[in-house]
Amino acid sequence: QTGYTALDQGFVNTAATKSAITYIDGDAGILRYRGYAIEEVAQHSTFLEVAYLLIYGELPSTDELAAFDERIRRHTLLHEDLKRFFDALPHTAHPMSVLSSAVSALSTYYENELSVRDHDQIEAATVRLLAKLPVIAAYAHKKSLGQAFLYPDNSLSFVDNFLKLNFGTMAEPYEINPIVSKALDRLLILHADHEQNASTSTVRLVGSTEANMFSSISAGINALYGPLHGGANEAVLNMLGEIRDSGQTVKQFIERVKNKEEGVRLMGFGHRVYKSFDPRAKLVKESAEEVLAALGVNDPLLELAMELEEAALADDYFVERKLYPNVDFYTGVIYKAMGFPTRMFTVLFAIGRLPGWIAHWREANADKSTRIGRPQQLYVGAPARGWPTDR
Ligand code: SDX
Repeated sequence: QTGYTALDQGFVNTAATKSAITYIDGDAGILRYRGYAIEEVAQHSTFLEVAYLLIYGELPSTDELAAFDERIRRHTLLHEDLKRFFDALPHTAHPMSVLSSAVSALSTYYENELSVRDHDQIEAATVRLLAKLPVIAAYAHKKSLGQAFLYPDNSLSFVDNFLKLNFGTMAEPYEINPIVSKALDRLLILHADHEQNASTSTVRLVGSTEANMFSSISAGINALYGPLHGGANEAVLNMLGEIRDSGQTVKQFIERVKNKEEGVRLMGFGHRVYKSFDPRAKLVKESAEEVLAALGVNDPLLELAMELEEAALADDYFVERKLYPNVDFYTGVIYKAMGFPTRMFTVLFAIGRLPGWIAHWREANADKSTRIGRPQQLYVGAPARGWPTDR
């Protein structure tokens, strides 16, 4: 073993990079985007303004934001050939697989926007991704329904256009519900960045090889898909449904979790960094109650989620391990009330996280001290041995 390498599985104690984008204090439950507290950002900002802040580092002027919004609106159309891409997939395709595949395919349409150095190409790729990811996501949703794809409506805001693409049809005019629109914009803000989480670290690692932005983001989407990461919001709804359908009580389920029954976890709980509470979870829980009440939706799964939270927070097993609700615990109940199918939940997380991924990819590529990511390992395999003579 040449020199001693400390093993740090899961990078619990390893800082892989410097970054100026997002700050988290896990013990104090603090989250700041470019220095602004998440509570203030969620209250005062919009998702596109937050995207601008994360990517460019400062809040935009009114004109800068208008120009940013306009540039994105003007790139919402997918190439007509790319729309045929969806025909190749079964209608049962999971939207996260559709998303990562389509984003990877997107790079083949923009061969002159793959640079990791040219500012104009990086700007172009940034706008293409912000404009087209929601459209690809909506088409994945429509594909699963067997419904026609709508064209984007550039007279609408980023979120309203996305809602119309998902829930509008060719046969009826679609009316935006302002409550849903505002709530979704806020949820996207809450997902916009989270420093070196697994998917963002993936985007940085892939970007460290000088792979283009599209390919790096596609890798991030795949990392987010996992149920231990962004896929948890889908897993929470499945967990709540299983508890309800099985007739088991909250107490019985909590016992199964504590007994570490194979594959039984309290999804939406726990976090590598937050060891007190996830400030986003508090804001999402407030939103859940507001949105469901405003939509007149009375979902017993929300009550069940609150019962689970109460039971866990009163149980030493969870308290000792500092397990609290994370951002994924309550989001699914809101997305469900908005009309999204469960398998679209992590896609919504990806749309929210896209500005963060882009900001980190750009930061890493602009940082001259960035080196290709290549961790060491501790070798524990077979010692040197000769090739068998009888083969
Ligand atoms: C996100 O990193 C980010 O910032 C991610 C994210 C972002 O914005 O990008 O915040 C988004 O991914 C949120 C997390 C969503 N995942 C889930 O909700 C899945 C359930 N949570 C866990 O799998 C887990 O808590 C993780 C993955 C979130 C964190 O994993 P860690 O830090 O490796 O913790 P661990 O698995 O080592 O758990 C420590 C202990 C263990 O018990 P012991 O072995 O010490 O007895 O806590 C237990 C675990 O068994 N534990 C849980 C649990 N989470 C941890 N027990 C029951 N239910 C859980 N959810």
